[in-house]
Amino acid sequence: MSFKLTLPVRRRLEKAARAAAKASYSPYSKFRVGAAVLGGSGKIYAGTNVENASYGLANCAERTAIFTAVSNGEQKIRCVVVFTPTPVPTMPCGACRQVINEFGPHATVVSACNSAERIETTLDRLQPAAFGPKNLSAAAVSSSGRKAR
Ligand code: THU
Repeated sequence: MSFKLTLPVRRRLEKAARAAAKASYSPYSKFRVGAAVLGGSGKIYAGTNVENASYGLANCAERTAIFTAVSNGEQKIRCVVVFTPTPVPTMPCGACRQVINEFGPHATVVSACNSAERIETTLDRLQPAAFGPKNLSAAAVSSSGRKAR
């Protein structure tokens, strides 16, 4: 079931994501991204994209925000808001969808930008039939039933 996002919380998340985008370290792509996540406790955690001279090491804003939330004891993500200072909204990349799935398989995902355009969806719509923790526990159950040779 997806989480019901109230307007005041959504506004706070958007504000936090917008502020985080200002801190973006993106000298290579020049593409600023900010993200804010709502943890199971109701607290908000923000993050930005952090690039590196070794390009492949860039970390997306969504993952920075989620790793910060988890580092602060959250294990459930209810909502992720992505902000880019662009005319159209930006959706989370595939790697970020996978990381959101770990902590919020039914999370609400909102993309906001400099125009009034918004996309609001859920992680299970963005990443149907996702690979996740349940696959590993299913494998552990089936291998524990196997006879030792
Ligand atoms: N980026 C994000 O922060 N989130 C996404 O979901 C897509 C891409 C960042 C990574 C990189 O710093 C820049 O945007 C260009 O790809």
